[in-house]
Amino acid sequence: MSDMPLLEMRGISKSFPGVRALNDVNIALYPGKVTALIGENGAGKSTLVKILTGIYACDEGEIYVDGGPVSFSNAQDAIDAGVTAIHQETVLFDELSVAENIFLGHAPKSRLGLVNWRAVNARALALLHSLESNIDPRLRLKDLSIAQRHLVAIARALSVDARIVIMDEPTAALSRKEVNDLFQIVKRLKTQGKAILFISHKFDEVYEIADHYAVFRDGKAVGSGELANVEQNDIVKLMVGRSVEHAFPKLDIALGKTVFAVENYTHPTEFRDISFELRQGEIFGIYGLVGAGRSEVCQSFFGITQPSSGKLKLDGQEITIRSPGEAINAGIVYVPEERGRHGAVLQLPIYQNISLPSLTRTSRSGFLNAANEFALARKYAERFDLRAAALSVPVGTLSGGNQQKVVIGKWLATQPKILILDEPTKGIDIGSKAAVHAFISELAGEGLSIIMVSSELPEIIGMSDRVLVMREGLSAGIYKRENLNAETLVRAATGNASK
Ligand SMILES: Nc1ncnc2c1ncn2[C@@H]1O[C@H](COP(=O)(O)OP(=O)(O)OP(=O)(O)O)[C@@H](O)[C@H]1O
Ligand SMILES: [Mg+2]
Repeated sequence: MSDMPLLEMRGISKSFPGVRALNDVNIALYPGKVTALIGENGAGKSTLVKILTGIYACDEGEIYVDGGPVSFSNAQDAIDAGVTAIHQETVLFDELSVAENIFLGHAPKSRLGLVNWRAVNARALALLHSLESNIDPRLRLKDLSIAQRHLVAIARALSVDARIVIMDEPTAALSRKEVNDLFQIVKRLKTQGKAILFISHKFDEVYEIADHYAVFRDGKAVGSGELANVEQNDIVKLMVGRSVEHAFPKLDIALGKTVFAVENYTHPTEFRDISFELRQGEIFGIYGLVGAGRSEVCQSFFGITQPSSGKLKLDGQEITIRSPGEAINAGIVYVPEERGRHGAVLQLPIYQNISLPSLTRTSRSGFLNAANEFALARKYAERFDLRAAALSVPVGTLSGGNQQKVVIGKWLATQPKILILDEPTKGIDIGSKAAVHAFISELAGEGLSIIMVSSELPEIIGMSDRVLVMREGLSAGIYKRENLNAETLVRAATGNASK
């Protein structure tokens, strides 16, 4: 191994109005090594990535590649210096094809300077194959699932020949199999001598793939070194400033009457014959692989899609939900997985986002009452330890994890009877995760009924009273809390139910 960093950042500072996002930060990336960048929501990780890719200019500091100073005044400069990134929110274009999205801006051209579409499609296909994906490069992006879109973003980053590859939470939307495939690619990049910066809130992944770590806290670099020499607890202490209890705060709650009953619910293409009953105070988990139909089932309870047959009963009465508006009126809310696209209005301030669906409550007199809106927002901001300069800043200026906290707060503020959470702690740091879990548990204690989709086994096992496992759109069994363990759930989810 060479001891000379491939890339070094020294004394980097960056401020936004009211926030010092990075404060005199140093970090070094080495050839053939993966460095994990770890830190709470809002610690400054994505800001560093945006400086490294020429999206933001830093206020102070220098960047060196191969020991020589470089300066990036735009994204092309960074690409020319050999830096590529998979961003936390990659901008892709719904109306363009998969191949166009991958090669936009750097498509292979013919000698006459025309884009050679046949070559573009062929290269896209080869790139997707190397990611073990069989997505057709000619499909429109809008026809892909969330996980597939994410693979396209990864393929786009790898389509330029880069020596420094940055991945900002690349695994958030991927299933375990896709994560494995991605890690194979990362290993290949390592053997090619590339330097990789890997950002994730998942410690198991960090320990699996990374060689080095760097911890940020409140915009400062507070520790770095070789991962082999450090325990997870010590890293958590560095990032949060205290140790974090890992126990799940599930309260023992006596379940009340059945509030919601699903009978043979069936969708024309996504799921079939789903039946369960949800009781007051119950946390009902839904587990399964990405693509098993979990989100689709929940979306149908919220009126986003319509079933082709089956029944829903709310408090014993049969109901039909034709739209999200009808669901909200009936006391059912759904916090989607992809909260950026479906969850928040990025241009509006935090407090308005939180009060948006509860306007009828905050404006009894018919006026919008800003004081009430603020009070409501402050309550959730405090509970979730929201990191923001003020409640009046646009949600778009928040870090990824903090945007998610706003969306969860916004739906909780409607005080629903039935709360459907889709991957509630995806992208949320370990300290805030415990706060979100404690809050979910308290809500159940107050008599709310909760349906929680999660791919994280510790979360599903730690929080649920019962778990429905879905496989390929069908129920693969409902398991009670006392029978929940990782092996049983994974076997049911994968169909590998051998005794
Ligand atoms: N364009 C912007 N305008 C104003 N403030 C911003 C902007 N971008 C980032 N910030 C602020 O800078 C700080 C660091 O944000 P950043 O996105 O780097 O955090 P992060 O470590 O990536 O967090 P997460 O784990 O939630 O993704 C936050 O306080 C955020 O609100
Ligand atoms: Mg981020």
